[in-house]
Amino acid sequence: MKFILLLALILSTQAYAENDDERHSGSKHQESHEQEGGKHDHEDGENGDSHGHGGDKQGGDHGHGQEGDEHGGDHGHEKGKHGAMMQGGEHDHEDGDSHGHGQEGDEHGDDHGHEKGKHGGGHGHKGGMMQGGEHDHEDGDSHGHGGDGMHGGGHGMNNVKQFFEPLPASIIDEEENAALIKLGIMLYMDPRLSVNDKISCNSCHGLDNYGVDNEPTSPGHEGKRGDRNSPTTMNAALHIAQFWDGRASDVEAQALGPILNPVEMGMPNKGAVVQKIQAIDEYQVLFAEAFSESKHPFNYNNIGKAIGAFERTLLTPSRFDDFLNGDEDALNKSEKKGLKKFMRMGCANCHNGVAIGGNSYKKIGLVEPYETEDMGRYGVTGLESDKKVFKVPSLRNIAQTGPYFHDGSVETLDEAIKLMAKHQLGRDVGHGFVKDIKAFLGSLTGKDTQ
Ligand code: HEC
Ligand code: HEC
Repeated sequence: MKFILLLALILSTQAYAENDDERHSGSKHQESHEQEGGKHDHEDGENGDSHGHGGDKQGGDHGHGQEGDEHGGDHGHEKGKHGAMMQGGEHDHEDGDSHGHGQEGDEHGDDHGHEKGKHGGGHGHKGGMMQGGEHDHEDGDSHGHGGDGMHGGGHGMNNVKQFFEPLPASIIDEEENAALIKLGIMLYMDPRLSVNDKISCNSCHGLDNYGVDNEPTSPGHEGKRGDRNSPTTMNAALHIAQFWDGRASDVEAQALGPILNPVEMGMPNKGAVVQKIQAIDEYQVLFAEAFSESKHPFNYNNIGKAIGAFERTLLTPSRFDDFLNGDEDALNKSEKKGLKKFMRMGCANCHNGVAIGGNSYKKIGLVEPYETEDMGRYGVTGLESDKKVFKVPSLRNIAQTGPYFHDGSVETLDEAIKLMAKHQLGRDVGHGFVKDIKAFLGSLTGKDTQ
């Protein structure tokens, strides 16, 4: 990865020199959400003692039910059976900035591993099932729980691995595919793939800029803009599908779109692209090497194969991966606090897995309607239930890839976090919550690229 990026950067400087395009400067977790590490976290004692858990308005489906959301019900435990399923319970009362526990079908309100009515006396844990409860009272608590697990049962992070997975070392054999990847980088950086030799993939997905252009929407051919924000190409190969609406199945298929898109690279048709590339000497060699088994290496699909192979090398291991791999010191205190909140508040119900997102489709405005013209996945499937449904974005490198949301309408990460809490979870969150979540999200930035 490091080597490839270096090579890419060298190539990109060349590309810049050639065309003064200034813009360049620049698992399935659903079934296992049972908690392992028990944790009772009451921060800011003033607000901390409102044990609103157990309202169970939504019954056994854990409050996910608003939309027939796939998470609902696959937590594998029903009301009254929590104790038996749980390896720990988690109580979380912080800052008073996460209102509404148990009042409005809070996602996590009831998956805390204790049964209704049992909060009072020692929180009703079924001791036999517990792997170590953690009672975490910050900022002047006075709850007097017995057995302070903060000093015993780990950091309440035992459930982290049920939500997240570290990045694999690689998802393509870089040695075996060296020629293909080399061709892929070349194509990715090459503005000659566009109709007037000005726009490359790298124009909108800068390799030296976390795979984005930091524009709300991207100026493409003749400065025309589409309606959507450029997502990053970093780690994109890990997603279930490509584009905000998932209309391309993988990075190989995706790469063929922008070249012909009139507001992106603007080439008139496949034949014209192949003809143009074939006429360039260096591609004669590169294609022959990359597709050595083929008599006719020049065809449109092979362009996608090469670019896709290169994109498969764009993984960005972060400190969070180190943490998932067992280095507890890889995250600092506020990042860990943010991680806990991210899981407890319910962000991790959608943003999970190896890419911390990218593995499911969800409606924007699940709980509180969200204004947008873009009907998202409805445009692909035609299903009524897919209106305003988008691929849940990966949050890797999210601190660097603003502006946010499918239309790039949200300028700051703070705002994105607030809107998510409100529209996806029905919560009004305060500054403290945003700050902690943002700290955690910062730990998802790739180390190589920092
Ligand atoms: C003019 C800007 C522009 C150019 C040039 C461009 N893209 Fe994109 N790219 C976008 C936008 C905008 C989207 C999102 C469109 C959508 O979802 O409907 C996108 C989406 C993607 C995605 C999907 C990522 C995800 O998370 O779903 C990948 C991968 C990608 N582009 C790779 C490429 C490659 C490879 C090229 C060159 C062949 C390229 N792009 C050229 C703007 C651009
Ligand atoms: C019900 C599923 C769901 C939940 C819960 C959820 N999100 Fe999202 N998130 C999405 C979807 C879908 C989008 C894309 C929305 C769009 O662009 O229209 C998104 C977008 C985002 C973005 C912007 C990503 C980008 O590249 O523009 C951030 C940041 C984010 N979510 C963080 C969070 C945080 C923090 C929480 C918890 C407070 C959270 N999300 C809860 C589904 C969810």
